[in-house]
Amino acid sequence: MCGDVNIFFSEDDETNLTTGEMEIMIAEETSRGRGIATESLWLMMRYAIENLKVDIFEAKILEQNTASLALFKDKMGYHERRFHEVFREHWLEYRVCDGADYRQKIVDKSQHAITTKYE
Ligand SMILES: CC(C)(COP(=O)(O)OP(=O)(O)OC[C@H]1O[C@@H](n2cnc3c(N)ncnc32)[C@H](O)[C@@H]1OP(=O)(O)O)[C@@H](O)C(=O)NCCC(=O)NCCS
Repeated sequence: MCGDVNIFFSEDDETNLTTGEMEIMIAEETSRGRGIATESLWLMMRYAIENLKVDIFEAKILEQNTASLALFKDKMGYHERRFHEVFREHWLEYRVCDGADYRQKIVDKSQHAITTKYE
């Protein structure tokens, strides 16, 4: 194991949309730069749209974390929702609910995924 990927849920009572906040950490420095974060995020997002009905993915990234900003924005296509002045964080989102293309991209990027029973 070289790190972890997490998803935290919240539901908006007014819109009925489900948000999954993504967190990723490749703790083992020798494992960085090999595409593991990118692949882990796409796989988790695939699971989340198919099994957990997530409509919007979110990521909250500290302003100085250029690697993570590049990962979520440039590599994966998350958009800036707001910059939070108090926390000095960029709040990014990937809105599956905004169109079929967003969902399809997740499916395409995780084509190789095989789901098996945990034993
Ligand atoms: C940020 C982090 C998750 C990247 O993990 P990784 O497995 O090395 O990332 P990948 O190899 O999948 O890289 C994907 C993209 O991220 C960006 N990226 C990764 N490392 C980078 C670096 N050191 N500098 C700039 N951009 C970087 C690039 O856009 C890269 O795409 P490219 O390879 O086409 O250039 C990892 O460095 C880490 O765990 N950092 C500490 C924890 C953290 O900041 N978590 C995010 C908060 S949710």
